[in-house]
Amino acid sequence: MLSKLEWRDGDFPVSIQFDDPYYSITDGRAETDHVFINGNDLIQRWPELQNCTIAELGFGTGLNFLETVKQWQALNLSIAKLNFISFEQYPITKEEMRKALSHWPELESLSKKLSETWNPEKTIESEFSENIHLTIHIGDANIILPNLNFKADAWYLDGFSPAKNPELWSEALMLEVGKHTCLQGTFATYTAAGFVKRGLQAAGFEVKKVKGFGRKREMLIGRKSNKVESTENES
Ligand SMILES: C[S@@+](CC[C@H](N)C(=O)[O-])C[C@H]1O[C@@H](n2cnc3c(N)ncnc32)[C@H](O)[C@@H]1O
Repeated sequence: MLSKLEWRDGDFPVSIQFDDPYYSITDGRAETDHVFINGNDLIQRWPELQNCTIAELGFGTGLNFLETVKQWQALNLSIAKLNFISFEQYPITKEEMRKALSHWPELESLSKKLSETWNPEKTIESEFSENIHLTIHIGDANIILPNLNFKADAWYLDGFSPAKNPELWSEALMLEVGKHTCLQGTFATYTAAGFVKRGLQAAGFEVKKVKGFGRKREMLIGRKSNKVESTENES
């Protein structure tokens, strides 16, 4: 099912269904950098990861993906590989994606490439760029993720606000996120909601509250701890 969105203040995409913006109206790109890239400590970790798998709940406009590609490419890690796996139940159209990403001329060529790859009707598997593999599962992450076999080094938890989109933050889904994270893998999210924090702790993450983006006082980051992995291996 396609998303229903409206444009607030002219060109900021807001979901009508969830009554929530796709990205921060202050500066979506800076938000991606603060919350997801720094929240997962990726600039420090990337040079050490030959194969880095990043998974995301909520592909939305593709902004997180493109900003990740931009920053990863800037490091020029000649033999490293980036594998980006995302989930999207209510995809936007190609035209909406282009408009949503048009705020950032720096992302123009990547945005054009993404719109050529994008198909809201079916799961996308693409060699997006040299050494960058992109998979976007179209459908409900709750149904799809339990059937997939991968472990992420980092998760971007980017559903709409937990109060408005609770199904993308449920304890059951957070458990799946934990199961699909490698030892010492991390997550980051813009929210600091208590039930999300508890769900992620139950899923095996050591969770910390840190300074949020812009006017948001707090957000959550975390690392999957040894303790949980060893218990998993015993069973
Ligand atoms: C805040 S937006 C994501 C923004 C996005 N990361 C970006 O860079 O533009 C949240 C996204 O989660 C998607 N979503 C909501 N519930 C979902 C579900 N159960 N499974 C998969 N995607 C879902 C929404 O359609 C929306 O695109």
